[in-house]
Amino acid sequence: PVMPVKLTINGRLHQLQLEPRVTLLDALREYVGLMGTKKGCDRGQCGACTVLADGRRINSCLTLAVMHEGESITTVEGLAQAGKLSPIQQAFIERDAFQCGYCTPGQLCSATALIEEFRAGAASAATRDVRAKPTELTEAEIRERMSGNICRCGAYPNIVAAVIDVYR
Ligand code: FES
Repeated sequence: PVMPVKLTINGRLHQLQLEPRVTLLDALREYVGLMGTKKGCDRGQCGACTVLADGRRINSCLTLAVMHEGESITTVEGLAQAGKLSPIQQAFIERDAFQCGYCTPGQLCSATALIEEFRAGAASAATRDVRAKPTELTEAEIRERMSGNICRCGAYPNIVAAVIDVYR
């Protein structure tokens, strides 16, 4: 049996008919035709399938599409706006933050959310105490917070550098 599922994907409403067992990853790739989101391990270990669901990053292989009814999903295809790369996409190019590129869509989505989370956290800390300085997003912190995204080529130093460029 199939179920109706409404998802706003990269700003566009999609009305899908899906079996409840279909993962969000398979829905994006097989039913919507957005191939940017990659399937690496298909079991929550590599992060290649990372997308944003209402702004929070998730492994799309680990979640069912029907669980995201009504949510706004952003994939790598939705990061650029009006033909202009997003700041983190631009920084990845400038910092040469990829080699084979397979993990890059997930890395980009993850980094986008990380920077937003961190800016929001720094902003709320500043509101609680006007004297509080926004916490520094250190290299160690970036590595920790991006640790769910594996890069077999080992582009980590350049990925971290790209995140720092955008955050600062
Ligand atoms: Fe989802 Fe590896 S494909 S975490």
